[in-house]
Amino acid sequence: GVAVYDSELGLLADELYSQIDLHKNYGGVVPELASRDHLTKLLPMIDDVMSKAETDKHSLDAICYTSGPGLVGALMVGAMMANTLGYAWGVPALGVHHMEGHLLSPFLDDDHAIEFPMLALLVSGGHTQLVHVPQWGQYHVVGDTLDDAAGEAFDKVAKMLHLSYPGGPAVSKLAEQGDAQRFEFPRPMINRPGLDFSFSGLKTHTLTLINRLKKERGELTLQDKADVAAGFEWAVADTLMLKCRRAIRETGVTSLLMAGGVSANHVLRTHIQTMLDKESGQLFEAPLKYCTDNGAMIAYAGCQRLLHGASPGLELNLKPRWPLDELTVSYADTK
Ligand code: KG4
Ligand code: ZN
Repeated sequence: GVAVYDSELGLLADELYSQIDLHKNYGGVVPELASRDHLTKLLPMIDDVMSKAETDKHSLDAICYTSGPGLVGALMVGAMMANTLGYAWGVPALGVHHMEGHLLSPFLDDDHAIEFPMLALLVSGGHTQLVHVPQWGQYHVVGDTLDDAAGEAFDKVAKMLHLSYPGGPAVSKLAEQGDAQRFEFPRPMINRPGLDFSFSGLKTHTLTLINRLKKERGELTLQDKADVAAGFEWAVADTLMLKCRRAIRETGVTSLLMAGGVSANHVLRTHIQTMLDKESGQLFEAPLKYCTDNGAMIAYAGCQRLLHGASPGLELNLKPRWPLDELTVSYADTK
């Protein structure tokens, strides 16, 4: 994903090249293929986005790239590209935290609405976190997954049902024809105190259910599959909603933002909105297009960093593992 963001004019241009076709035969991301494809696609895309944005290299204040967390090969390509172009063009580079990109994505269109403190539910393929955000650039992770991330659970259940990759949208589409109440699904970690999540039990429960149905009747009908998908999706949405409600009640913070690939899920969005209506809370969510990974959120997060005093420079900053709560307002403080 590549984008040009202007602090006054907003998003000038952005493009996303999806690698879904490349990876779908393997049922998940193949790291080596991902980085090789990044290498060939990035430069032409940068050219394209710069001309769409009618931006000249001399008018850039910085080239922001994802430093982490993520697959090291893919991160390396982005970091090398940003620093090499930065060197050639005389523009500094700035590494951005992928999850901060997600977290700020609801404000891409309009950041006048930001009011701290906030709670953030980050739900992606690699993360499921509840974050307390007392002010800009301060992130306290108050709930985390003990095993699988929510998106990962969607992807694994999609495989069990022989659906296409990526699994989240496929499970969600099939679930539209299903009855979420037909089978019982657990709500993991709900009866324990705290704000942590766990989705591996729900995944095992789903596999056991599918195997039981297969044993009883040979093959699953389309309706069986849709009912399993709907019950699973409902259980994930309900569990995430219950934890958000608990966080709101425990902290007294009623502004909730939701971001990351799974936040595109409409059952989850409805569950959260209904809960917030009852709690007199306010929901901030990104447009669907910016829920899943994109360049615009990284450009925006980088721009906010610059406005808040980060000092960009030409150095290769790669952090495949990078806990969100190690971030502070200025990246310089974390070195
Ligand atoms: O944020 P993202 O694009 O990449 C990561 O940072 O991981 O999230 C991707 C995840 C995948 O697991 C995908 O299956 C899930 O988000 N996802 C969804 C939906 N759209 C994407 N899960 C449930 N419902 C959706 N509509
Ligand atoms: Zn992501």
